Amino acid sequence: MKGLILSGGRGTRLRPITYTGAKQLVPVANKPVLFYAIEALAAAGIHEIGIIVGDTAAEVRRAVGDGSRWGVQISYIPQETPAGLAHAVHVARPFLADDPFIMYLGDNLIRDSLTPLVESFRREPADAWILLSRVPHPEQFGVAVFDEQGRVQRLIEKPAVPPSDYALVGVYLFSPAIHQAVAAIRPSPRGELEITDAIQWLIDTGRSVRPQVITGWWKDTGKKDDMLEANRIILDDLVADVAGTVEGACELAGRISLAPTAIIRNSTVRGPVIIGEGAVIEDAYIGPYTAIGDRVVVRQSEIEHSIVLDGAQILDIGGRLEDSLIGRDVLVRRGQSKPHSFKLMLGDHSQIELI
Ligand code: DAU
Repeated sequence: MKGLILSGGRGTRLRPITYTGAKQLVPVANKPVLFYAIEALAAAGIHEIGIIVGDTAAEVRRAVGDGSRWGVQISYIPQETPAGLAHAVHVARPFLADDPFIMYLGDNLIRDSLTPLVESFRREPADAWILLSRVPHPEQFGVAVFDEQGRVQRLIEKPAVPPSDYALVGVYLFSPAIHQAVAAIRPSPRGELEITDAIQWLIDTGRSVRPQVITGWWKDTGKKDDMLEANRIILDDLVADVAGTVEGACELAGRISLAPTAIIRNSTVRGPVIIGEGAVIEDAYIGPYTAIGDRVVVRQSEIEHSIVLDGAQILDIGGRLEDSLIGRDVLVRRGQSKPHSFKLMLGDHSQIELI
């Protein structure tokens, strides 16, 4: 059995972060989202993994490498345009050949191990196994409708009026029959070849499609608040490890992971908090559910429930940042010059809330 991870697409819902980087490489608890997918597949015994890559191919390759770090073999599969999840299966056909495979959307995070699912699929093969989860906003997902016997009857991609609250999770297991389905479908109204339509084709032509409802948490990290929630959930399981330097008058509480070359000086840190290599926290407050990347500097400032990417600096702001996603090498600081006004240089599609 092979693995196929989708790491192409445009990531429009995470702009401006995704203007300069792949959304699948945005870190959750200081680890790229994509790495959780690779780890989950490796743990389920899937060693041949294809990764679909688009415009951000070079960056994904640089971050992931050949897979030896996880004991897997990675093949990169370029997709020229993000023409849909079923289109990604189409371009991966030479890699997949006629093997069954598990497809994992590279921006999804799932807590449950995939091993029982992969074992069930091996024991009782079907043309598709789909995972479903009940969600409060099904209109943002593919949605499933069951018949009276509990079989999947219909799948609808992002319906305006959802007929159920069962959303399609971004992990699917397929037999090679999916290739026939992909060849048979046409682009949807949003112009994409939808995997939802391909699975519907399997249902309509009498193939076996099995639903499995998951109850553990699952997150599609496509938007800022979803990223922050994923970060919170992962940090809930953080293992405390204060390997770095703590100096001066500090108050450390809760679980904190401090990288060996990071420094906390005259500051209060309340976990769960993770702080990356070379970061400096000085005269500051870092509150729960915050992930601070490598080489970040937080000085004379407060931050909580946020993700700060590598190299960013938060200096002398006095007030507290919350619920924020701060990109690489961003500088946020209190200005000294008069008049005292907000001075901004924001990338397209930036969002800023002032008080
Ligand atoms: O997260 C679950 C949802 O994922 C399902 O409920 C939906 O049925 C399914 O269509 C999908 O919806 P999204 O709109 O969230 O998909 P998105 O465009 O975000 O793409 C998912 C991943 O696949 C993402 O990592 C980007 C990648 N991708 C996407 C497209 C359209 C590709 O690699 N190639 C593509 O052509």
